[in-house]
Amino acid sequence: MFDHRKIENNGMAMAILTTIVVSIGGIVEIVPLFFIKDTVPDLEGVKPYTALALEGRDIYIREGCVGCHSQMIRPFRTETERYGAYSKPAESRYDHPHLWGSKRTGPDLARLGGKYPDSWHTAHMKDPRAMVPESVMPSYPWLETTPLDTRDTQTKMRVMHTLGVPYTEAEIHHAAVDVAGKTELDALIAYLQSLGTAVKKDASR
Ligand code: HEC
Repeated sequence: MFDHRKIENNGMAMAILTTIVVSIGGIVEIVPLFFIKDTVPDLEGVKPYTALALEGRDIYIREGCVGCHSQMIRPFRTETERYGAYSKPAESRYDHPHLWGSKRTGPDLARLGGKYPDSWHTAHMKDPRAMVPESVMPSYPWLETTPLDTRDTQTKMRVMHTLGVPYTEAEIHHAAVDVAGKTELDALIAYLQSLGTAVKKDASR
């Protein structure tokens, strides 16, 4: 149909036709993803953060923990041997924004939940060297003594709801009780203890 030699000798025609062909390829690959319901396959056990853990996540963001810690276990043996089952897409479903990170000065935290008791985290956040003598992690002693600012907890949950996190009205209503009288450290530990608990540590390595 086309005279290939003519097209290939005409830079403009070649550029335009290449763009058209590549666009068709792109559209065919990308557009269905918006309509397929299970682009992110469901994972039983992935639940929205509790109000306290959601506040803890904001402390994690505020303190820049993501600058030293990733939350993304890649599907390589070296990773799964050290950290546990690799990260699944659905595990980040309720993370807005996600905190996968790209820097590992410290270890990956994607499967941290349940690894240590709360008391370990309390001592470690106050002074990492107390638990791991060679640690270069900064100390965060103020978290334990700073009351959690809970004025916006319910608003945050409502915002998450508009982004697709299925909080019920009852949960949002109950949030005030969940966070009342807590410190920033309580919230951060609640968050850390929830990380990666939807998947068994050694599942589907
Ligand atoms: C300057 C880099 C740096 C920053 C910032 C940092 N960490 Fe760390 N973190 C480390 C290093 C290095 C280790 C390994 C030594 C240790 O356990 O203290 C570590 C270890 C940890 C561990 C233990 C992980 C395990 O599996 O043993 C936790 C939990 C942790 N960090 C949480 C946090 C939190 C929460 C923040 C933010 C408040 C934070 N880190 C900020 C460098 C950092």
